[in-house]
Amino acid sequence: MSTLLELSGVSVSFDGFRAINNLSFQIGEPEMRAIIGPNGAGKTTFMDIITGKTRPDAGSVLWGEKSVSLLRKSESAIAREGIGRKFQKPTVFEAQTVRENLAMALKNPRGPFDVLMHRKTPEGAARIEALAEEIGLTGQLGRIAGELSHGQKQWLEIGMLLAQAPRLLLVDEPAAGMTPAEREHTTDLLKRAAETRAVVVVEHDMEFVRRLECKVTVLHEGSVLAEGSLDHVTKNKDVIDVYLGR
Ligand SMILES: Nc1ncnc2c1ncn2[C@@H]1O[C@H](COP(=O)(O)OP(=O)(O)OP(=O)(O)O)[C@@H](O)[C@H]1O
Ligand SMILES: [Mg+2]
Repeated sequence: MSTLLELSGVSVSFDGFRAINNLSFQIGEPEMRAIIGPNGAGKTTFMDIITGKTRPDAGSVLWGEKSVSLLRKSESAIAREGIGRKFQKPTVFEAQTVRENLAMALKNPRGPFDVLMHRKTPEGAARIEALAEEIGLTGQLGRIAGELSHGQKQWLEIGMLLAQAPRLLLVDEPAAGMTPAEREHTTDLLKRAAETRAVVVVEHDMEFVRRLECKVTVLHEGSVLAEGSLDHVTKNKDVIDVYLGR
C-alpha cells in the first residue's frame, strides 16, 4: 500500500473560527478509512479541502505518486485527478432509468473511460452490467431512478461515481436515512470498492463503522484526536470524553 493522499499542517478559518487546525492525514491505495467525530469537528470541511471546494489558509495537500499539490487545482481538475465525492443527498437523474444514469456517468470523460464506453457499444453495455452487479442493482436497470428507494438511489450514485474509476472516493454519512438491511448492503459495497482504491467514509453510526473493519481517524476541533482500530480509538479517554460519552 503506497500513500495516495497526504495532508500536512492544514488549517482553515471561517470568520476567525478555526474549523481545521493543523490537520495531518494520510491515506494509502488501496485503503478503507472511517472518519468519526462530534458535530462540527470539521469532517465535511476536511472533504471540502480535498475536493478544492474550500481553500486552506495553511498547509499542504499532496496527491499521487508524484506528490502533486492539489491546492492550486480547480474542483473539476481535482475530480479529473480521480477524486470522487458522494454527498448526503443522492443526486441521480430521477427521470432516467438506472441504466441511463450509469451510461451517462460512463460517458463523462475522466481518465480511461470516455465516449467509447457509451452503452451503445458492447464494452459500454458490459461495463454497465458490471457496475450494476457491483452496486446490487442488476434487477433494476430498466427502472426509473425516481422510483428507487432511498438506499437504492444512494447505491446508484455510488455506481455513477465508480463509473468514473476514482482512485479516491469520499463518502459523507452514507447510512443516514437507510434501513438496517440497506446499511449492511452499503458497507459490503464500500468494502468491495476499497479493495482497489482509497475510500474515506464519514459516519456517525458506530455499527456501520464497525462493519467497515478499517482504521478509524477521530477528528475533534479540526485536528486528529486519535487514530487506529475502532477498538483502539473507542478505548481512548479523550475520545470517550468528547464524542462517545456524550
Ligand atoms: N463555509 C463555512 N462558513 C462558515 N463556517 C463554516 C463553513 N463550513 C463549516 N463551517 C464551520 O466549521 C465547523 C466544522 O464544520 P463541518 O461541517 O466540517 O463539521 P462536521 O464534522 O462535518 O459536522 P457534522 O458531524 O455535524 O456533519 C463548524 O463549526 C461549522 O459551522
Ligand atoms: Mg458533516
